[in-house]
Amino acid sequence: KNEINIGLLGFGVVGSGVAKILQNHQEDLRHKLGASVGIKKVLVKDLYKKRDTSLSSDVFTSDLQTILEDPSIDIIVEVMGGIGEAKDAIESSLRAGKGVVTANKDVMAEYGRELLELADVNNCDLLFEASVGGGIPLIRTLEDGLASDRISALMGIVNGTTNFILTKMKHEKMSYEDALMEATELGFAEADPSADVDGIDAARKMVILASLSFSTEVRLEDVFVRGLKEIRDGDLELAEQFGYTVKLAGSARKDEDGVEVAVEPVFFPNSHPLASVNNEFNAVYIYGDAVGETMFYGPGAGSMPTATSVTGDIVAACRNLLLDVNGKRPHVMQYERKVKNDRE
Ligand code: NDP
Ligand code: HSE
Repeated sequence: KNEINIGLLGFGVVGSGVAKILQNHQEDLRHKLGASVGIKKVLVKDLYKKRDTSLSSDVFTSDLQTILEDPSIDIIVEVMGGIGEAKDAIESSLRAGKGVVTANKDVMAEYGRELLELADVNNCDLLFEASVGGGIPLIRTLEDGLASDRISALMGIVNGTTNFILTKMKHEKMSYEDALMEATELGFAEADPSADVDGIDAARKMVILASLSFSTEVRLEDVFVRGLKEIRDGDLELAEQFGYTVKLAGSARKDEDGVEVAVEPVFFPNSHPLASVNNEFNAVYIYGDAVGETMFYGPGAGSMPTATSVTGDIVAACRNLLLDVNGKRPHVMQYERKVKNDRE
C-alpha cells in the first residue's frame, strides 16, 4: 500500500488544522511513512459555508454514508464533536473495518470502554490523543512512556477555556463575559461553553486520564465537579492580595480504598508552577511510584496544537495499517471499578 486515504468528519477549528498539517507536511509524512496520506472526503454540516482551504470543493459532503461506504477510505478522523452522531459515526466506522482517530472527550469519557472493545473486536485502531491536553501528548505518555509504573496521583489544569478566562481576569482585569467571548472567538471553547465553565469538560478529561492511569473504570458521575460559578465576587482580588492564583484544577488519586477524582477551583500560591500556567495552556503533574513527579505542559486547546495530536494519531494509525498490526494495540481502559465519591 503506498497511499492512505482519510475521511475527515468535521472541518471546524480542529478539522481545518488537520487538513493544513496533512497538506503542509505532506512530503515529511511521505518520507516518514513510505506512503502518502491524503484527505479523500470531508463531512460538514453546511456545504455552502465559505472555507479557507486549498482542498477542492468536491471533497466536501454532508452525507456520512458516502464516506463510510467508500472502500478506498482507510481511516476516519472524527472531529465533528457532540455525542450522539459522533458516537454513531465512530461505531459505524469501526464496524466497517476503518481505524478511527478522535478528539472527542465527550464520547471517550462516556463510551470509551465500549468503543475500545468494539475496535478490538473489529481489529481496528481507535486513537484519542487530542481528547485531553490539546497538543500535549498525555495519552501516549500514560499508555507507553509510564506504562511500567504504578501511577498514584494526577493533578493539573486540563481546560484551556477556563484557564484563559481566569488569566485574562487576573492579568488584564477583563470581565468574565469578555474573556469567555475571546476564548470562543479563538476556538478554545466547546460548542456549548457551559461544558467548559461548569467544569464538565475538565471532568471528562479527568475521567479519561484517571481510567488510563489507574486501570480502573471511572465514570463522569464519579467525579466531584465544581466550575467557575463557585468563584465568588472578590475571590480573585483576595487571592491576589495574599499571593495566590485561582485555577480550575483537576485531581485524581488512588489508594487502597479506590480512586477519587475531582475538578474544582483551587487557590495556588504564586510560587507554585501551576499558578503561572496562563491563557489556554494546560499542565499536568503525574506521580508514579517509580518515576516520582513528572510534569507535562503545553497548549491545551486551539486549532494547530490540537491538530498536531490528531495528526500524530493519524501517523500512528497509518504505520499500524502499513505494518498490518492495526487494532493489535493493547489498551488499558477496561478494568475493575473501585471508585469513591463521598464529597458533597
Ligand atoms: P467546530 O465546531 O469548530 O467544528 C465542528 C465541525 O464539524 C464543523 O465543520 C461542522 O460543520 C462539523 N459538524 C458538526 N456536526 C456535524 C454533523 N452533525 N454533521 C456533519 N458535520 C458536522 O469544533 P472543533 O473543531 O472546535 O471541535 C471538534 C472536536 O474536537 C470536539 O469534539 C471538541 O471537543 C474537540 N476538541 C476541540 C479542541 C479545540 O481547541 N477546539 C481541542 C481538543 C478537542 P460546519 O463547518 O458545516 O458547521
Ligand atoms: N474546550 C476545550 C478547552 C478544548 O478549553 O480545554 C480542548 O479540549
